[in-house]
Amino acid sequence: MSEWLVYRGNGEPAPGRIDLLPEPPDWRRFDGEPLDEYPVPDIDSASVRRLGKRPPLPVQDARTIELINAALYLRRPLLVTGEPGSGKSTLAHALAHELALGRVLHWPVVSRTELKSGLYAYDAIARLQDAQISRSGVSAEPGVDAGRQDVSLGRYIRLGPLGTALLPSKRPRVLLIDELDKSDIDLPNDLLNVMEEGEYAIPELERISDRPAQATVEVLTDDGLRAPVTAGRVRCCAFPIIVMTSNGEREFPAPLLRRCIQLHLDPPRGKRLAAMVQAHFGEGADRTNRDLVDLFSTDSAGVPRPADQLLNAIFLTHHVAPPNSPQRTELARMLMGSLDPGQG
Ligand SMILES: Nc1ncnc2c1ncn2[C@@H]1O[C@H](COP(=O)(O)OP(=O)(O)OP(=O)(O)O)[C@@H](O)[C@H]1O
Ligand SMILES: [Mg+2]
Repeated sequence: MSEWLVYRGNGEPAPGRIDLLPEPPDWRRFDGEPLDEYPVPDIDSASVRRLGKRPPLPVQDARTIELINAALYLRRPLLVTGEPGSGKSTLAHALAHELALGRVLHWPVVSRTELKSGLYAYDAIARLQDAQISRSGVSAEPGVDAGRQDVSLGRYIRLGPLGTALLPSKRPRVLLIDELDKSDIDLPNDLLNVMEEGEYAIPELERISDRPAQATVEVLTDDGLRAPVTAGRVRCCAFPIIVMTSNGEREFPAPLLRRCIQLHLDPPRGKRLAAMVQAHFGEGADRTNRDLVDLFSTDSAGVPRPADQLLNAIFLTHHVAPPNSPQRTELARMLMGSLDPGQG
């Protein structure tokens, strides 16, 4: 029954398991010419910080894992909701870690975020300055002949996290669009089109693509590397694994919801909480910190609390007081306040 699961949520890196994913449905097939030589950077410290350093353990329940796999099979974004601290953002890192898909592309959304900033940025001012320096013959960079300074357009275009995720790599990249509910009203609608088509244009490059030697231009990516873009268009090959998170601060339009797999994460309790504690503090840490785990689980009077509070309490009390001492419980209680302003 569980054989179809490509992502198993057991935290063991399984390089190559993503290649077992069957072909996409016809309506989610994208035909970008694959970029063979783009070196995807390894998973970075942002993921280690969230997942912990010890061998990770199963943190998600069976239904969650099935929904995640449904999104992988259907090449659809995941829209993850849940209380603060329920593990929404960390899910993207867990996917990249287990499926060995390299660095997570992170796009944090705020009210001013526009679609274009996720796709690419063009620094026209820097290019103008460099061109002026080049004409004046006085170089700002020691050892560089100002007259020969490279002011080609591609040097001044940097792809954003979404723009980089849509580069035509053979294996999907993991993209975290964090806190989409903080965006202004237009962003979810603007995203729809890009996620439906799996491609976007860079008009600055489209305009010059008929000039000699300008059809393919190298641009900077969100990874800080260079990638070629042909005719000013980027079209994906493997659709990225997109995790969009929301704290439910507002409703999303129905057309977006229809195109996502919706996943609600409950706050971690019981086995999931024990797994999380062990991921950060080592095997058996859930047992040695039983007093705090129990306090966290039973003392919240039904009000949700983020798992970070338990992790913080274990870390801090470990330095200041022995297990089961009143001082330890006191400190832990202080850190484990409710997020509801009306409650203690
Ligand atoms: N799979 C996991 N393994 C280890 N630790 C985890 C895992 N999932 C979540 N955590 C830990 O739980 C805490 C909360 O997770 P996370 O920040 O992902 O929650 P969130 O739902 O995104 O919260 P918010 O809505 O406030 O952004 C973090 O400290 C993280 O390290
Ligand atoms: Mg988060």
